[in-house]
Amino acid sequence: MDGRDLVRGVWEIGTARGRRAWRAAWRRRRADAEGLPLRGAERARVPGLLTGTEPRPGGGLLRFARSELVVRVTVGGAVFWGWDGAEPTPSYAVVGNGPDPDPRAVLEPDTGGGWRVVSERVTVAVSRHGAVEVRTPGGTVLRRESPPRWWEPVEPGRGGARWQVRGEVPADARFFGLGGRAAGARLRDGSYRLWNTDPKGGFGPGDDPLYLTMPVHWVVADAGTHLMFHDNTWDGRVVLREGEEGAGSGADRPGTTELRAEGGPLRCWVLVGTPARVAQGWSGLTGPAAVPPQWALGYQHARWGFGSEAEVRRVVAGYASRGLPLAAVHLDIDHYDGHRVFTVDRERFPDLPGLAAELAADGVRLVSIVDPAVKAGDPLHSAGLAVGERGAFVRDARGREVRGEVWPGECAYPDFTDPAVREWWGGLYEERLAQGFAGFWHDMNEPVAFAAFGDATLPRSARHVLEGAGGDHRAAHNVYALGMARAGWEGLLRLRPAERPFLFSRSGWAGMQRYGGSWSGDVESSWEGMRASLALVLGLGLCGVPYSGPDVGGFGGSPSPELFLRWFELGAFLPLFRTHAAIWAGRREPWEFGPQVEEAARAVLAERERLRPYFVTLAHLARRTGAPYVRPLWWGAPEDRRLRDCEDAFLLGDALLVAPVLECGVDRRAVRLPRGRWYDTATGAAHEGPGQVLLDAPLGRTPVLARAGSVLPVRGEDGAVTLEVWAPARGRTGGGVVVRDPGPGFEAAEVERYAVRWAGETVVVEDEAGEPVTGVVVRGL
Ligand code: NOJ
Repeated sequence: MDGRDLVRGVWEIGTARGRRAWRAAWRRRRADAEGLPLRGAERARVPGLLTGTEPRPGGGLLRFARSELVVRVTVGGAVFWGWDGAEPTPSYAVVGNGPDPDPRAVLEPDTGGGWRVVSERVTVAVSRHGAVEVRTPGGTVLRRESPPRWWEPVEPGRGGARWQVRGEVPADARFFGLGGRAAGARLRDGSYRLWNTDPKGGFGPGDDPLYLTMPVHWVVADAGTHLMFHDNTWDGRVVLREGEEGAGSGADRPGTTELRAEGGPLRCWVLVGTPARVAQGWSGLTGPAAVPPQWALGYQHARWGFGSEAEVRRVVAGYASRGLPLAAVHLDIDHYDGHRVFTVDRERFPDLPGLAAELAADGVRLVSIVDPAVKAGDPLHSAGLAVGERGAFVRDARGREVRGEVWPGECAYPDFTDPAVREWWGGLYEERLAQGFAGFWHDMNEPVAFAAFGDATLPRSARHVLEGAGGDHRAAHNVYALGMARAGWEGLLRLRPAERPFLFSRSGWAGMQRYGGSWSGDVESSWEGMRASLALVLGLGLCGVPYSGPDVGGFGGSPSPELFLRWFELGAFLPLFRTHAAIWAGRREPWEFGPQVEEAARAVLAERERLRPYFVTLAHLARRTGAPYVRPLWWGAPEDRRLRDCEDAFLLGDALLVAPVLECGVDRRAVRLPRGRWYDTATGAAHEGPGQVLLDAPLGRTPVLARAGSVLPVRGEDGAVTLEVWAPARGRTGGGVVVRDPGPGFEAAEVERYAVRWAGETVVVEDEAGEPVTGVVVRGL
């Protein structure tokens, strides 16, 4: 129990829930003491020396004295390797059977008694001790992994092997990713746990891990960019240490990575190339991102504690009467009957379908929170018990249902690693659709079981179906929310096949994007919290989850008008733009912060609406290319080291650079520019990158720069989409891609490509057929 647990525990003991949380924590501890085998003495193992090789498609099998290694380069360049017989599938992350082996990649002898697989984009070399090197075709080393190390219980039947791998990367490399980390975007030296965790009551920059972790990290270095994915769902830790050039005696000290896993297969994927290529490869490997419905790219308002239909109407009317556009309202657990999922408090929300219809007429959708835990003894619980042969809920090693304390009281947990349970759960969304809900917000799915100390989740010994393979919570924990998302997504597709589901989830894992997005969770209402929320969005995007955003204003507190407005300004440039707050927190309606904030918020919302077609384009491109909407500044120029260190600005698609104000009392800020010409969209002034400029940022104005030559679709005052084109520098050309929303379902979206060039004194825009496009607005002249 650490100090923080103690404080939070003491805080809780005065309540009935607190007492139950203490009991639950002891119960969990006991369950693990009984249900997990004692490992006893362990024996360490390394692969030993290479004893033989066997060619296999895309590479080969390498036999070592005490292990074996499969190396496979796949079509498209993704590299897989697995020790001890680990293969790419089964996997919760990889879609289908994974990419096919590259028929041209063959295993051949390397220098020093090792072997290598050479392919068009990457070379993988294995030493005779089992060290693995990833090299560019030119021979530059991007990463070197030492031979792995395993620890196995000496006595049989006491569990599988724990393992550790260490890697070296170039001294100038920077690390990113690992899911949603408050400490990012650049991951500094530290130890990052791989265990989805509710930080209890809110988080700031120092809190780690958070709700959505992933064993995926990016390495960005002069030598090249690569992504490393350890396909293992178990609890683990990644220790990162940046290197140093010319350290000590003038020699470089490489950066290092170390991954420790408490079990599970030792297998990984490496993707090499430009950031865009790497992202494309990751999306190919783990599946294309769901495209949210058009409306989910508009501004949304949530609150824990609306309390009644009347209050929802009052808030919606507040937006309407002030001319502030609103796309959706999110109802939290207080609209449930006794906090029980898939129910409605009929007293306070007597006619949800009526409310939904009324709001829909004004273009406002209703979104429902969905919690996974089911109150014990409820009709839903009884229904779950009838699913399949063993019921829908997670059980312990002795076959008893595992119970945990959540909002409704004592609860059981659906086992989302069981296909039959997913199917049952997916069908339950019918009730939500009948209530008029258009979208779904998955919460508490790490999963949370309140506990006064230790991990507030299920016992590690709890049993899961794991797609038939069977196993315990140590293997299932990190993919619990992924399974819930799959259940919801597939259920909604069955129930309403003509519409793309809208779903976002607090927890998740690699591949989450197939079913929806995520959000920051309970970020604290502070400037640090706002910065952390941007880090989270950037990290998730790099891990393949492009649609996310923060609780604008922070979850738990009462932001100052200045903090609220700055956060609102930031949120407007993030995919999920949503205000939300805890039941005990201050209001989040912009007008509650005074007329100045209201006025500024109006302009912010108008700009978001103007950019909506651009967000639609980015949503479709994320699906097609794997590129997140929100990208770190180094995206197009990873060789620019200053960009790798820049965490206070981001690219929104190819066209815009957004430099939010993340500090109190500031009305100007320095903005680092990637190479090329950039226009300040507020003044039209041109700036040449690479370099740094100082821009005005009075309250209500976030510096946004447009890349010279870019084409972005915007909504005109008449509602029609027009092209806004930023003049290329003289002697240069430009261009862009536009995807219009083809409808609410899965209609094929058409990609329009435009070219931009100077013709004498004018800028002309041409479509793919070379025909001039009229009606465009050219700026930056
Ligand atoms: C925790 C979620 O993170 C938060 O957004 C929500 O309001 C509360 N649970 C209550 O449902």
